[in-house]
Amino acid sequence: MKVLVTGGAGYIGSTVATALAEAGHVPVVLDDLSRGARAFTRGWDLYVGDYGDRALIRHIIGEHPDLHATIHCGAKIVVPDSVAHPYDYYLTNVSRSLELVDELVQRGKARFIFSSSGSVYAPSDSFEVHEESPLAPTSPYARTKMVLEMALADIAAGTDLRVISLRYFNPIGASPSLRSGTRDALPSHVLGRLVAAARGDVESFVITGTDLPTRDGTGLRDYVHVWDLARAHVAAVERFDDALQQDGVASSVINLGTGQGVTVRELVAAFERVSGPVPISEGPPRPGDAIGAWANVDKAARLLGWRSELGLDDGIASALAWDRRRAEVVGE
Ligand SMILES: NC(=O)c1ccc[n+]([C@@H]2O[C@H](COP(=O)([O-])OP(=O)(O)OC[C@H]3O[C@@H](n4cnc5c(N)ncnc54)[C@H](O)[C@@H]3O)[C@@H](O)[C@H]2O)c1
Repeated sequence: MKVLVTGGAGYIGSTVATALAEAGHVPVVLDDLSRGARAFTRGWDLYVGDYGDRALIRHIIGEHPDLHATIHCGAKIVVPDSVAHPYDYYLTNVSRSLELVDELVQRGKARFIFSSSGSVYAPSDSFEVHEESPLAPTSPYARTKMVLEMALADIAAGTDLRVISLRYFNPIGASPSLRSGTRDALPSHVLGRLVAAARGDVESFVITGTDLPTRDGTGLRDYVHVWDLARAHVAAVERFDDALQQDGVASSVINLGTGQGVTVRELVAAFERVSGPVPISEGPPRPGDAIGAWANVDKAARLLGWRSELGLDDGIASALAWDRRRAEVVGE
């Protein structure tokens, strides 16, 4: 099947495109290269432009009338940046996405898979969240994800649009072939900061927040290997109609995580197991940091036949392998 992947030059979109290609499908990439890397798309059709550009969407559909579905990974994704520039985030993540969706529906390309986020959930005392758990996103970025999910559900109810919104938890690692990965040399997320400390690029890895109400006082996350995440998209494409039919809805939301919470101290221990000792220090929580959550993933198993297969150590080893290869692929 041929699949349009917006943001397909980015970290997750390029990994999804690799998984699609390995499963015998044909990715067609649309990316404005504002963050993605051209090198991550080699071998596939790449359209450079804005996914909110209706004329460009019509042009792509004209050249690929057999598009089976769209996977919408394109977005602005940096949380502090979304606090400083909320208009840009609502414009790109919500308004431009609506232009894309409306154009696709008008052209009869109604299967839409949306990259949403586990950051839409309200804190839960048990740390477990399922798809019906209350929502309370804490940043403009996360609110754009919630708002677009809601708009998609409304549009699906009133038109031919059919939607699967996938709520990713915390992706780590790279594709096994190391064809693509994170673009930045110093990713700001926790595993990126650990890799930087292991490399000696920063003095130490700072555990931000040691007094939180978790089992060891540090923040808790559900780290899911990006290759597992990518495989879930292949399943979502292949089972799209069946999954929505089984659920009896026009639009469905599905968690993608491992079903296990890992604290920062546990992540550090795993990292040291894989890579050796890392200098560690402790500091106060960063403003706006969530205590954390892990995903109930029963719905993904039921509707997509998907569960994560790779473990935390695999994700860490993969992130380290990508760190060694990154500059060669990205060319920076
Ligand atoms: N990385 C995470 O931790 C995480 C977690 C949950 C959800 N997500 C979601 O997954 C998706 C992919 O995230 P990522 O980590 O790969 O980010 P990324 O920045 O690597 O990829 C996003 C891609 O979208 C492109 N893009 C941005 N605006 C565009 C526009 N207007 N038109 C065309 N292309 C545009 C960028 O150039 C980039 O290649 C995003 O929707 C993000 O919100 C990511």
